[in-house]
Amino acid sequence: MDHFNYQQDLLFAEEVPLSKIAEQYGTPSYVYSRATLERHAKAYTESFNSMDGLVCFSVKALSNVAILKVLKQCGCGFDIVSGGELHRALLAGADPQKIIFSGVGKSKAEMAAGIKSNILSFNVESKSELMALEEVAKEMNAVAPVAIRFNPGVDAGGHEFTKTGRKSDKFGVSIDETMLLTAKCIQSKSLNIVGLTCHIGSQISELEKFSEAATQSLKLLLEVEKLGAELNFIDMGGGLGVTYVDEKTVQPYELIKCYEEIFRNRPERLIVEPGRSISANAGILLTKVEYKKNDFLITDAAMNDLLRPSFVSGST
Ligand SMILES: Cc1ncc(COP(=O)(O)O)c(C=O)c1O
Repeated sequence: MDHFNYQQDLLFAEEVPLSKIAEQYGTPSYVYSRATLERHAKAYTESFNSMDGLVCFSVKALSNVAILKVLKQCGCGFDIVSGGELHRALLAGADPQKIIFSGVGKSKAEMAAGIKSNILSFNVESKSELMALEEVAKEMNAVAPVAIRFNPGVDAGGHEFTKTGRKSDKFGVSIDETMLLTAKCIQSKSLNIVGLTCHIGSQISELEKFSEAATQSLKLLLEVEKLGAELNFIDMGGGLGVTYVDEKTVQPYELIKCYEEIFRNRPERLIVEPGRSISANAGILLTKVEYKKNDFLITDAAMNDLLRPSFVSGST
C-alpha cells in the first residue's frame, strides 16, 4: 500500500497536495513518499521470526542517495551491481557488512573497490569471475568473501526479459558448477566461501516459484556442506511482484514465512534482495499538461524522464 491518495479530486503525497509541490518546485518532478518507502521496507524487516534476516535493497531499482539513506535507517543493507552503486550505498552511510555485490560483469577495479570497502559478499556468477576475484584478492593480500549464485532452473517472472532463473539464462551457474566453485574457494587462500545465492526473476506473483527455488537451495546447501563449507547465509534474491493496475501479489510476510518454513532449523542467516516491491509504488512523476492535440494530452515530461510507460504493451 502507498501513501498517494486523492482527497476531493486532488492528489496528495502523504499530507501534501501535489499541486503545491508543482508550484514550489516546478514540473516535471519526481515525488517520493518517505512513509511508503518505510512501510515497504518494514514489511520485510519485521517479517523475520525464526531466522536471522537481512534485507538488502536492490539499488538498481532506485539509486537516489537520499532514498538509500531512508532505507538504511530502516535497517536495510544493499544489493549492488557496480562500483557506482557501491559508491552511492557508502555515501548513504551503508554498513559495508550489509552490502552484497551481485551482477555478471564485475570488473577487476570494481572487485578491488568491494574488497577495500570490506563488503559482506561477492555473489559470483561464473568460473571466470571467480578466477578474476581470486587474482584481485591475491594482489591485495586480502581474502574475498564469496557466495556462489546458482541457477535453480525455475521459470518465473512477469516478462521474458526479467526471467533469470532458467538454465538457459546468463545468470548463475549450474548445480555441478556450484560444487566445483565451492571446492575451489575452500582450496584458495584468497577466497572465503560465505554463502549460497539465487535470484529467479522479477515481478513474480506465485509463491510456489519462490518455494521451488528455496527447496533447490536447501538441497544444494546440504551438498555444499558435505564439501566442508560452513556458510553464513542463504541469499534468495528479490523478485516479488507489485500491483500496478490490478495484479494479485504475494505479501513480503508470506514470502519470508515460506522461506523460514523451508529453511527451518538451519543456522544460516536469510538474506533477501527486494527492489521493485519496496520502491515501485513509492514515487510518482509529477508533470503538467502543456497542450491538447487530438486525443493526446501533451505533457512536459517524456520517455527521457520515465521510460516504462512507452513500452507498456510489453511491460516488465
Ligand atoms: C541479483 C538481483 N537481486 C535482486 C533484484 C531485484 O529484483 P526485484 O526488483 O524484482 O525485487 C534483481 C533484479 O534484477 C537482481 O538481479
